[in-house]
Amino acid sequence: MKIAVMPGDGIGPEVVSQALKVLRYVLPQAETEEAPIGLAGIVARGVPLPPETLALARRSDAILFGSVGGADEASLPRNERPGTGLLQLREELTLFANFRPAFMFPELIGASTLKPEIVDGLDLVILRELTGDVYFGKPRGIETLPSGERVGINTMRYTESEIERVAHAAFRAARRRRKKVCSVDKANVLETMQLWREVVTRVGRDYPDVELSHLFIDAAAMTLMRAPKQFDVIVTGNIFGDILSDAAAMLTGSIGMLPSASLGVDRKGLYEPVHGSAPDIAGKDIANPLAAILSFAMMLRDSFDLEDKAKLVEKAVRSVLADGYRTGDIYEEGTRRVGTEEMGDAVVQALRRLSN
Ligand code: IPM
Ligand code: MG
Repeated sequence: MKIAVMPGDGIGPEVVSQALKVLRYVLPQAETEEAPIGLAGIVARGVPLPPETLALARRSDAILFGSVGGADEASLPRNERPGTGLLQLREELTLFANFRPAFMFPELIGASTLKPEIVDGLDLVILRELTGDVYFGKPRGIETLPSGERVGINTMRYTESEIERVAHAAFRAARRRRKKVCSVDKANVLETMQLWREVVTRVGRDYPDVELSHLFIDAAAMTLMRAPKQFDVIVTGNIFGDILSDAAAMLTGSIGMLPSASLGVDRKGLYEPVHGSAPDIAGKDIANPLAAILSFAMMLRDSFDLEDKAKLVEKAVRSVLADGYRTGDIYEEGTRRVGTEEMGDAVVQALRRLSN
């Protein structure tokens, strides 16, 4: 097993080093190799995705990823922005299926901004298509019209085969869960999304045991706030998935809890916390490392087929929450506020206890 480790920027290195503690305990035989990406890539090699980093990704079985991004990158040309490194990596490895589970830990019900009865028992997964849509469609750019006025252009674009492969991934995931897929689109306005709905419906005929429904993105956003428990697997395009997954994250109380897996055609996957680089809290030992640790659990399951070990890590996380350990983002009165390092250590201790 060869695992590429890309801590990236901001709080990325802090949370990844906690996930590495867990990795060393659970997979002592795995080989790990680190490489810079994002701002770290720019500092080390002048580009957000250095060629050596991409080469390492290609020869690894899985990638443990932190986060990329700096405080003020809006002024930089697009190909020099830290986030571009991540987008290029997704594109180069064709990691088209981005699974973002939103799971309510009963211990954290008070941390959600929604009423407990709305989120109690919440367990859904957003499958975001990750290599198409306005994120990659051409033409794109900022041009100047003959009048001298500038115009910004991006293109929403999906081929049938791109929709098909992510739809299959959604139905297969639903079969391992509660057998429900809700496809989210904007078929009432956009042709791209009209095709999306048509193709998802067609693929759905191969999975008669899975219940398929459709929602427009605006209604989906509303339903996610009103009655999120009705969802099992939500499959949607890149831009809608970006937005919906942040919203879903908040249902659970903190984006600091949520892991993700980005998979391609083989078992190689990139595992990253859903939260970003949070430069404002970087280096202060206050970031929540649980999303990174839970992302590693997804790696165990999805890239290495080690279901028992994945469950063990998830159980260890639950047990530290039950013991009252909380980083600032999920802190409530009566619980024990800890830093990033201490939270990581607590998970490793729980692993020791649970595996004895
Ligand atoms: C995400 C992030 C990225 C995205 C950024 C960092 C490019 O928001 O993974 O959700 O928009 O995909
Ligand atoms: Mg996002």
